[in-house]
Amino acid sequence: MATSRALIRPYRPSDRDALFDICVRTAENGGDSRHVHPDLDLLPNIFAAPYAELEPELAFVVDDGDRAVGYVLGTADTPTFVRRFRDEWLPRLADRYPAPAGEASTPTEMMLHLMHTPERMLVPEIADHPAHLHIDLLPSHQRAGYGRELMDTFLAALAEGGVERVHLGMLTANTAARAFYDRLGFSVLPVGDPGPLTYLGRTTRPIGTREADTAS
Ligand SMILES: CC(C)(COP(=O)(O)OP(=O)(O)OC[C@H]1O[C@@H](n2cnc3c(N)ncnc32)[C@H](O)[C@@H]1OP(=O)(O)O)[C@@H](O)C(=O)NCCC(=O)NCCS
Repeated sequence: MATSRALIRPYRPSDRDALFDICVRTAENGGDSRHVHPDLDLLPNIFAAPYAELEPELAFVVDDGDRAVGYVLGTADTPTFVRRFRDEWLPRLADRYPAPAGEASTPTEMMLHLMHTPERMLVPEIADHPAHLHIDLLPSHQRAGYGRELMDTFLAALAEGGVERVHLGMLTANTAARAFYDRLGFSVLPVGDPGPLTYLGRTTRPIGTREADTAS
């Protein structure tokens, strides 16, 4: 558990290494993924870096005075993000991470498949929740209120930009994260074929207000 209060601040390019580190230590169902994906740049290049790079105005970190120990990242508009991921982000990675030929069978091949199919993020049933997000904190800084603070900051930034609704896709097996999102007023968005994910959504109104918690 952290001993002194860390601060929320906007992401800076110098946070890149910390961002990658936080991502790999939390990407396996909320826990460390390094034993599953030995290439430590793979998951951050799918789930963290493109957001910080393409929409830095929506990237915030928890800074413990030494380094970033948590982040929230996302996009204001999923269709635009998907197009930019394909047109601007993927070309930078294609040499290092070619699309797997044939059926993906290993965990890493499955992640490569996700990397090469950003259109999977376009889910028709939740198109009325155009923004989406990712939030992760190192274990040392979990359950201390930083997730709530990060979410407050992210929702306020979306609302300021005129975005009214946000969604996220979480691994259904990550029950700890689900308890967090429930507490913050997210509710399930029904999707025909969600695979291993549960889609949750809410308005971008401040957490804890009656309208926000009932109108998602
Ligand atoms: C999920 C995560 C972002 C939550 O952030 P956090 O800082 O730990 O959560 P907070 O301390 O801000 O908690 C906010 C509220 O959620 C509740 N909560 C958080 N985690 C909970 C859990 N595991 N079980 C029950 N309640 C929980 C808290 O009790 C708190 O309630 P309160 O403010 O009304 O008292 C963080 O724990 C994390 O990064 N986990 C690992 C990575 C991960 O799973 N990310 C999400 C992927 S979908």
